[in-house]
Amino acid sequence: MKPLYRQVQPSVTMGLDQQARALAAAGKDVVNLTAGQVDLPMPEQGKRAVVAALEADRTGYVPATGSADVKAAVRQRMGWEEGEVLISAGAKPLLNAAVACICGPGDEVILPAPCYTSYPEMVRLAGGTPVMVPGDPKHDFIVTGEAVEQHITDRTKALLLNHPVNPTGAVYGPEVLRKIVDVCVAHDLYLIADEVYSSFVYEGEFVSLYRFPEIRDRLILVNAASKTYAMAGLRLGYAVPLFPVGAGGPGGADHGRRVRSCYESRLPLPSGQALPDPL
Ligand SMILES: Cc1ncc(COP(=O)(O)O)c(C=O)c1O
Repeated sequence: MKPLYRQVQPSVTMGLDQQARALAAAGKDVVNLTAGQVDLPMPEQGKRAVVAALEADRTGYVPATGSADVKAAVRQRMGWEEGEVLISAGAKPLLNAAVACICGPGDEVILPAPCYTSYPEMVRLAGGTPVMVPGDPKHDFIVTGEAVEQHITDRTKALLLNHPVNPTGAVYGPEVLRKIVDVCVAHDLYLIADEVYSSFVYEGEFVSLYRFPEIRDRLILVNAASKTYAMAGLRLGYAVPLFPVGAGGPGGADHGRRVRSCYESRLPLPSGQALPDPL
């Protein structure tokens, strides 16, 4: 087997989810907190749109980076005015593609810890080395720009930042984000931002990294309908690389498209139609 695959661990979350489901199927009373499954039905309007797409026989292939109508809907919902919107079957393939575009053998990607269990494996799959930066337990495990800076080496290519954070629920405030952005800019790092929990902020305001213009030429922003609209099974993810298409840098949208079209196929068309109105 290819040596790279020997270094990669299977998804811990999916393994535990399978165990919990097996126990439930065996009649045990299990509260399954493994996968980030939102315990709500998806919006009715989205369900009707899926049914309408099926009834109109809209079940064929769509363009690899998503159809124009879905891209336009995402752009409008997310307020992403700039950059090329990429649509995928969930956030995970987009995160994998972003890491694969930026990172190769010998490269390091900084991961604030604790983190979504798939991140280190994404970096290893790309041939790179995950560098875990532990958050301060006294401050909700938030990882500061200073802490990131201490872990930068001449092999560091990117920071993969998830906020609100799985698993801690921490929400990064504007000052901490500003410092992180400054550090990424100063050290020429790409910033991959996973904002899939952006709708789950109960105190204060969610600040997206989209709001920091100075990082835009190095930012890949990933979000999804999976959590926001409780439709993880429909697999609708979206991303916006803000650097110009064809910029040629590692991670430009051209590279993203190329890698994505090899990694995985297109979004199921009815799922794209399911994007509900903003909450
Ligand atoms: C932080 C984080 N990012 C990404 C994902 C994957 O999202 P999707 O189901 O849209 O691929 C999850 C799933 O739990 C997650 O917790």
